[in-house]
Amino acid sequence: MANLRWIRNLAIFLILSNFLVFALLLDLSALHGYAQLAERVRIYETMRANILEKESNNQLGGRVLLNAKERVVNELIMLEKQHELELGLKNISHFQVAQHFFRSFEKIGNTTLFQNLKTMPKGGVLHAHDMALCSSEYLLSLTYREHLWICVAKSETQEYKMLRFSLLQPQHEESCEWSLLSELRQSVLSDAVDKKLLAQLTMYPLEHFPNEDTVWKRFRSIFRLVVGLLTYAPVWSDYIYKALEEFYADGVQYLEIRSVLPILYDLSGGNYTLLNTTRVMRDADLRFRASYPDWIGSRLIYAPTRKVSDARFVEYLGNALLLKSHFPDYFAGFDLVGWEDEGRPLHDYARELLALQDEIHFYFHAGETNWYGTNTDENLLDAVLLGTKRIGHGLALLKHPEVLQLARLRNVAIEINPISNQVLQYIGDLRTHPASVLFAVNYPVVIASDDPSFWKATPLTHDFYMAFMVIASRKADLGLLKQLASNSITYGAFSGNEREAAFEKWHKRWNQWIDNINTKL
Ligand SMILES: *[C@@H]1O[C@H](CO)[C@@H](O)[C@H](O)[C@H]1NC(C)=O
Ligand SMILES: *[C@@H]1O[C@H](CO)[C@@H](O)[C@H](O)[C@H]1NC(C)=O
Ligand SMILES: *[C@@H]1O[C@H](CO)[C@@H](O)[C@H](O)[C@H]1NC(C)=O
Ligand SMILES: *[C@@H]1O[C@H](CO)[C@@H](O)[C@H](O)[C@H]1NC(C)=O
Ligand SMILES: [Zn+2]
Repeated sequence: MANLRWIRNLAIFLILSNFLVFALLLDLSALHGYAQLAERVRIYETMRANILEKESNNQLGGRVLLNAKERVVNELIMLEKQHELELGLKNISHFQVAQHFFRSFEKIGNTTLFQNLKTMPKGGVLHAHDMALCSSEYLLSLTYREHLWICVAKSETQEYKMLRFSLLQPQHEESCEWSLLSELRQSVLSDAVDKKLLAQLTMYPLEHFPNEDTVWKRFRSIFRLVVGLLTYAPVWSDYIYKALEEFYADGVQYLEIRSVLPILYDLSGGNYTLLNTTRVMRDADLRFRASYPDWIGSRLIYAPTRKVSDARFVEYLGNALLLKSHFPDYFAGFDLVGWEDEGRPLHDYARELLALQDEIHFYFHAGETNWYGTNTDENLLDAVLLGTKRIGHGLALLKHPEVLQLARLRNVAIEINPISNQVLQYIGDLRTHPASVLFAVNYPVVIASDDPSFWKATPLTHDFYMAFMVIASRKADLGLLKQLASNSITYGAFSGNEREAAFEKWHKRWNQWIDNINTKL
């Protein structure tokens, strides 16, 4: 219904406003001679203003009505935004957002605008991966737990390849040598070990890779390093809880975690399944809800790796059904992860996925690629035809107008992860992000952070900052920010009643935030 109303309104609007432009055009062409120059200028200016107004109204957040108190906050925020943009317009080398995130994140974090966006209730994060949720400072603190072993490469670089909790030395590895981390910290300068660990827990400060292959290699090496640290059963529980704390502290009230559901382990050879992994996550969320009444909640999107055999894929789908039956409230749906250009396309699995379409909700990554006309950008079409509820990234969507149209008709939201796209080198300068076009036509989008800890980003604020400063128009204001937050609830994996309750919690915090800023002024 909401969709139909929107289309009807747009149709009426287009007919009326285009009629005005058309009439003015006729008017303009009928004029000639100097006598009419003043009239021509008048018509030209009227048309110009008319078109700009139309674009402004039709963009994301363009029709959000702000109340008196919100308008006060809007003025403040727009002053800060204009100030940053003015600096950039005067001298581009002073414009943080046009630079690589690794050069700008600290300075951005120091701006008043960032501080205001941090406290702003931004709704939910609908796209974030299990192994990349917590700050590297927290991960480093985890490495001080006892019985942790580290595998140091035998090569000259001596990089840290794996971590594993164990009473005895873990199984022999070809390429690296195990030692107790506590002993390594005694033999080498402890600060040096920490510094090296920190460097290997993120992509920072590497800004340039020769190509996608090398970026993804580095990206995977971080996964390989953290997996043994995080899947230790006692750590997994603390880690997930800490993730909720860090997201909450960043103005987030809801989180959908995409997890590969790694099998946990402990020191006494306990037997775990992916149900244990899930239960730990769900329990962490229940504890968190009990302590923070305005926390809306978190949910799981089961997202195993996409580069697998047919047999393994069928197993995945069995897992998804099992998860749904055991955790009907916590399990949200299914997705596939990994380097999309390299993994298998959705089309390969169409038959199996169609069979489950009515039982399992899909939230597919699709079109995270710079290629055009390949399996990867066609994943967008497959995702939409398979009934995906949202699309992760969708960078290639504008190259497929038919898919774009169909996706809009089916109300499929796009999860935009600006910083991820830059660090993984799909996009350079964020001013060229294709989502600007989606913003301009008020396509349903949400802003998320993908793997914030891998790039030292805050759980959501940095991505919001980027979206507000350069993906959106210079003129886009608090209305856009409010719309983005509200979209994250509209497109979250809620049932009808839950969505209303979620909106209520977010609204309450939003109004408090507006009040707080008003009283401080
Ligand atoms: C822009 O700023 C940089 C760094 O402060 C400076 O080196 C450069 O001269 C400035 N350019 C202009 C045109 O002012
Ligand atoms: C950010 O602010 C902190 C604290 O005021 C300061 O120590 C730091 O140097 C600043 N960083 C940048 C990059 O401006
Ligand atoms: C895993 O979960 C099952 C219940 O599904 C439980 O009986 C078992 O003790 C758990 N395993 C461990 C090692 O905690
Ligand atoms: C785990 O399962 C194996 C094989 O079934 C069994 O030998 C072992 O005792 C189990 N471990 C625990 C702690 O129950
Ligand atoms: Zn992702």
